[in-house]
Amino acid sequence: MNFLDRNEFNFQPSQEVINTIHNFDIGKFCFYTRIYDQGKKSIFSEYLAGMFDIEEKRILLGYGAEDILKNAVHYFLTKGPNNKMLIPKFSWWYYKSIADEVDGQTLQYPVYETEDSFCYDMEGLKKMIEDEKPRILLVASPNNPTGNGLTPDELDHIINMTSGDTIVLIDEAYAAFLSSDITYVKHLVDAHPNVIISRTLSKFYGLPGLRLGFGFISQSEEMEKFARFSNKYLGYDRLSEEVGIAALKSEGHYRQIANVMDEARKMYTEELGSLPGFKVYKSVANFILIKYPIEKKEALQVAFAGEDYKVKFMNEPALNQQMRITLGRKEQNRKVCDIILSICKQ
Ligand SMILES: Cc1ncc(COP(=O)(O)O)c(C=O)c1O
Repeated sequence: MNFLDRNEFNFQPSQEVINTIHNFDIGKFCFYTRIYDQGKKSIFSEYLAGMFDIEEKRILLGYGAEDILKNAVHYFLTKGPNNKMLIPKFSWWYYKSIADEVDGQTLQYPVYETEDSFCYDMEGLKKMIEDEKPRILLVASPNNPTGNGLTPDELDHIINMTSGDTIVLIDEAYAAFLSSDITYVKHLVDAHPNVIISRTLSKFYGLPGLRLGFGFISQSEEMEKFARFSNKYLGYDRLSEEVGIAALKSEGHYRQIANVMDEARKMYTEELGSLPGFKVYKSVANFILIKYPIEKKEALQVAFAGEDYKVKFMNEPALNQQMRITLGRKEQNRKVCDIILSICKQ
């Protein structure tokens, strides 16, 4: 079965990652990390501190980005009377679910469809922040499932709409596909007191099974308390931290793979974009959203199942005639395109 429905990695890890695992000294599992004696969490957070030029104590580590996001939502929505979180209208189901776990209130802010993409409605968002005064504003860039992203200036603009009472939680799980520039991360968390940026090794670095996420926080007393809350006092998984560093060092390998994904985007747009009833949205992540004629839904589902391919047929109000397809290896992308053409090309 080809699982192109969950935004995983259908390629090989880098040679550095493979070597790190093969050469790992298993004796390290007999001990907690030693770096803890220096007041640091992990060799991985220390590496990130150098890479992003942000102090180690302002780096969060977690069991995937899901853990970073859950910690932040659980902490800030239960720390006082305000338990309101704003999330994008179309977004990952998980945001609402982690707020529900602590009886938080979730409200959706507008995201609208453009000619070839989706867009945050900045004016609508501003008004909602003023009216609702949320405890957390969750921003996803790139957003799942719509695939649109924000520039550093747009992120800054959104943060400026909030007062210090609102935590701006930015889910950047797919951000490395959008740009290789990471310098803005420091600028955002240094310039504002209320920002958390969450990233992961699961998407661009292709290691969803490793379960390693990381984040960056602003400088404030409140954020320091949150960092202590989310910290793990006996350190982190000693193999994962080494594999994580190896992955971050293999940018070139993963950029090459991102180029294969660019080719796939082009193919889908060229071959499906002008078919009647189709729309191929611009995507800056490792997946692409495609609108198809709704009357073909069942035939498409049958055809995909018959070929042992899974893609995600969206099934939400106002987003039910789209499918989200993970960008995979060249032959997988070709196959998906052919399955769609076999059903939809007259
Ligand atoms: C928007 C978004 N954020 C975060 C995650 C989860 O990342 P992780 O594997 O690091 O928990 C996903 C997974 O699909 C996602 O779509």
